[in-house]
Amino acid sequence: MTGLVYVLNGPNLNLLGRRQPHIYGHETLADVERDCRTLAAELRLDLRFHQSNREYEIIDWIHAAREDADGIAINPAAFTHTSVAILDALHAFEGPVIEIHISNVHKREAFRHHSFVSSRADGVIAGFGTQGYLLALRRLARLIEEGSK
Ligand code: DQA
Repeated sequence: MTGLVYVLNGPNLNLLGRRQPHIYGHETLADVERDCRTLAAELRLDLRFHQSNREYEIIDWIHAAREDADGIAINPAAFTHTSVAILDALHAFEGPVIEIHISNVHKREAFRHHSFVSSRADGVIAGFGTQGYLLALRRLARLIEEGSK
């Protein structure tokens, strides 16, 4: 394996596929995890895939990532727009971070236009649907490879 990546998902993403499918699509989070694992195998990445509705659990996973991960892909969901604590945790992580949003947050309500996480992220993907997760993994694989040279 060339690296270990944490894929972290914030609140309400457990309802993916059933929640506002006109915005977030019909794929479930289990579908997303399956597709991420298929691509990760191709990219020779190991994955830890998590979702929580609790801010502290996401923070704890970021702390765990400090110990063993090479990169983080995170869809902080609504915590994107509120959480200085997640931003601070990501600042304590040294590897590359890619922020993902399934929807194009910039086309939506004004309160979704600001992200605390973006000021730490190495890249931001928004509006590519669940394909954004796969793009994030490809980018992380590249950044991890470049960082190891
Ligand atoms: C989201 C966008 C957020 O504004 C929203 O709160 C979510 C999902 C997205 O993936 O498009 O829960 O992060």
